[in-house]
Amino acid sequence: MIYYGGDYNPEQWDQQTVAEDIALMQEAGVNLVSVAIFGWSRLEPKDGVYEFGFYRDLLDRLHAAGIDVDLATGTASPPPWLGEMYPETLPVRADGTALTWGSRQQYNPASTKFREKAAELVEELAREFGSHPAVVMWHVSNEYGCHVSESFDPESRERFRLWLQARYGTLEQLNEAWGTQFWSQRYTSWSQVEPPANLPTFHNPIHLARWREFWSDQLLECYLAEKRVLHRVCPDLPVTTNYMGFFPTVDYWKWSPHLDLISNDFYPEPGDPRAGAQFAASSDLMRSLGGGRPFWQMEQTPSTVQWRDRNSPKRPGQFRLWSLGLVARGADAVLQFQWRQSRSGAETYHSGMVPHAGKLSPVWEEMVQTGADLKKLAPVAGHRLRASVAILWDWPSLWAAESAIGPIGWDPLTRVAQWHQSLYDLGFLVDFASPDSDLSGYEVVVVPSLFQVLPGLAEKLAGKTVIVTAGTGYQNGEAQVHLGGYLGPLRDLLGVRVVDLLPVAPTGSATGRITGAVRTRTRVQVSLDGQSYDGDGWAERIQVDQAEVVATFEGLDVDGLPAITRRGSAWYVGSFLDEAGRAALLERVLGSAPGGPQLAELPAGLEVVSRGPFQFLLNHGEIPVQFPVSAGTDLLTGRVARGQVTVGPRDAVVLDLR
Ligand code: GAL
Repeated sequence: MIYYGGDYNPEQWDQQTVAEDIALMQEAGVNLVSVAIFGWSRLEPKDGVYEFGFYRDLLDRLHAAGIDVDLATGTASPPPWLGEMYPETLPVRADGTALTWGSRQQYNPASTKFREKAAELVEELAREFGSHPAVVMWHVSNEYGCHVSESFDPESRERFRLWLQARYGTLEQLNEAWGTQFWSQRYTSWSQVEPPANLPTFHNPIHLARWREFWSDQLLECYLAEKRVLHRVCPDLPVTTNYMGFFPTVDYWKWSPHLDLISNDFYPEPGDPRAGAQFAASSDLMRSLGGGRPFWQMEQTPSTVQWRDRNSPKRPGQFRLWSLGLVARGADAVLQFQWRQSRSGAETYHSGMVPHAGKLSPVWEEMVQTGADLKKLAPVAGHRLRASVAILWDWPSLWAAESAIGPIGWDPLTRVAQWHQSLYDLGFLVDFASPDSDLSGYEVVVVPSLFQVLPGLAEKLAGKTVIVTAGTGYQNGEAQVHLGGYLGPLRDLLGVRVVDLLPVAPTGSATGRITGAVRTRTRVQVSLDGQSYDGDGWAERIQVDQAEVVATFEGLDVDGLPAITRRGSAWYVGSFLDEAGRAALLERVLGSAPGGPQLAELPAGLEVVSRGPFQFLLNHGEIPVQFPVSAGTDLLTGRVARGQVTVGPRDAVVLDLR
């Protein structure tokens, strides 16, 4: 079956409301809720005093109503007493200010005391509820790193030093790797190594990149400390923690082997036409992190959030469409934050499945309709998807790019999203892969702005259709550049190297006698097959060693220089092509690749995804569209489709093709 439901926070409601909630859950087809995510102060009202009655009663009632529970460990938000009694658990800002309670997540992930207190709670909880028949999953903490992902207190600083010692062995090796001879940074004792904060000017890039990696590891330690307890006390219950899409702070490739099931939270802006593509990218990433296994959507919003400047609602049908789209891309659970909209507190104006106005709001109707539809998709659960195209995406490379000073002025995440969107628009299913992943199953690999490239990648890409784009391969894993031309280890594969960066800087204009005579370049254009595309101000000087020039730059000082090259099936794009340019290039490159675009068949607005023998037709557009079908039954309506099927605006058809 497909799980449907969401975060349930009944701590804020009276018993009568809880009774009403359970009845409404049944009406909406809810079959799973996440409980106790922010439950610590209720579970342990005083240090070492545990009270489980409220939750025992709740779990019993949910179970009696046929509703399963994803039970949280409650450690995401410590109660005020913890910070008051153990101030060392509070995170400290670079300026020395300790963050305090009154909001949420005020814990220092590197604090030994915090980890101990969390583990004690988890042990009690696991003993109490590990064998409760309602509990089907452990939900450790919540969105690790979301609000607080670093601390500058003495314990964290000491842990950072120990972590670096384990990594580099000797201080000499750290000095060598970090290039500390420059700017007189050479360390002569480990005690001199401090966090990269409170500095007069620029940091050493590798110092910051390592700091970020260190914190990703500290957060992972917190997760593992709880998971170890859970596996020891209840070895049979799976354990997850909820990810946040392409969240830049935590290396989910490194984390994922430690999760029994991948789960995700994602909140795209409903008014953004690219939101559907972003949702697809986030789902594709989750499926990929789990090695192709189904994942859970742990959170999405029923309608509005409360945390943007303006919070636009989902359009009628959009919640249902996106929910079906999640299942199309591999989700076996569609869960929301939160079940009932709060009456008070920070998230009062965040929508809930049960809105403030209750059944009077059309949001409720859509919740019920979606629940009924997801029930019909039970046969889809468990099926895997197979993509032949992969995009490389890597956290250490992101950290390297974000820590580097100067060369870029672009955000690798945006570039990855753009290439995914272009492939999505062309109708391709895409997996994400890390440079360390097994790439053997992919025919096509896109490498957008992979700033850090290590030896060995070229060998994995050889023989495939490969598109590498600007911003790739400037550095190795220690933030040292690849000398002799960027692209480093990919130079042979691509037959080119990047010998200079020629971006456009934003400048003013002048009309004076002298100043008005000065010419500067304000744009970069890429000319491909007689068409000009915008290059977002980015040009790289490409030296062609052994490749064919496919497109050239247009613009002052770059006119006629190579912009896109190809060596066999390996393409290099030395610019940031606009949407039309990416589409043109992809059509050209992939038109001849196996499983190339079948654009001719795809009407505007229609997303087509196959999961096992089920074909999802998701119409994101405003008008009904037609799609050719040999024969199949729509799981949602039970209608048999033959020859052609019509999909209404923001509606879907799920064909059983067996
Ligand atoms: C998530 C969080 C939830 C809720 C939600 C609101 O980041 O896990 O607890 O706050 O955002 O959009």
